[in-house]
Amino acid sequence: MWSLQPQNMRKKIVAGNWKMNNDWQEANTLTTQVLDLLKDRGIAAEVVIAPPYVHLEKVVSMVSGTNGVSVAAQNCHQESSGAYTGEVSAAMLDSIGVQFVILGHSERREYFKESNELLAQKVNAVFDHGLTPIFCCGEPLSIRESNQQMEYVTHQLTASLFHLEPAQIRQSVIAYEPIWAIGTGKTASAEQAQEMHAGLRQHFEQKFGQEIANNIPILYGGSCKPSNAHELFAGPDVDGGLIGGASLNAEDFVAIVDSL
Ligand code: PGA
Repeated sequence: MWSLQPQNMRKKIVAGNWKMNNDWQEANTLTTQVLDLLKDRGIAAEVVIAPPYVHLEKVVSMVSGTNGVSVAAQNCHQESSGAYTGEVSAAMLDSIGVQFVILGHSERREYFKESNELLAQKVNAVFDHGLTPIFCCGEPLSIRESNQQMEYVTHQLTASLFHLEPAQIRQSVIAYEPIWAIGTGKTASAEQAQEMHAGLRQHFEQKFGQEIANNIPILYGGSCKPSNAHELFAGPDVDGGLIGGASLNAEDFVAIVDSL
């Protein structure tokens, strides 16, 4: 089940999801180091940094002027404004120069009970404000063990993304992150990743047609590190990575960017 078009038609992306890590001093140092390391390289991928909300504005200003590097938020609220104490809207993110929003991360789904239906609303909010979703999907171990992973993950996509206009799907970024591989050190094999990515692309093709399906970047996430990134990214339907733990170390993160 391989792609019909060469993978170089698609945008390649490596995104670093810092999660709830780094105070400002650490965030400043890490961003500076990443930018320094990227400076002397011809970057083949678009690099996205996703710090916690409080650092977004400063990190946006640090990366501005560096071609191919942009900033993502790790979440947003589905409404533009209102009485939602503690929340941040896509409109606010847009107003400070954020370009991407990670949505549907398994930690948001699990700890904050975000459903496929809620995520459909968040995806709409992100598009309403001209941002790009990095939409996460992935199965828990029990689903993988019962070999239901393709049905499970394609359902996540159908429920949260299939109401979108083709032009919006064309702009979306997908991140396949098997939950059993996140932060566990247990990576999906390159074959498992490629098989899922090809299946997801085929799922998009059935609804939105081949041209759009062939152009959606599908990233892999889950214990991706310098030692396995090259092999994982070799799959023709694997267009980069969403990196958690390894994105907290500048050299590791840039080594992963270099693996594309
Ligand atoms: P990990 O996290 O690289 O630490 O496994 C990936 C993610 O949760 O996005």
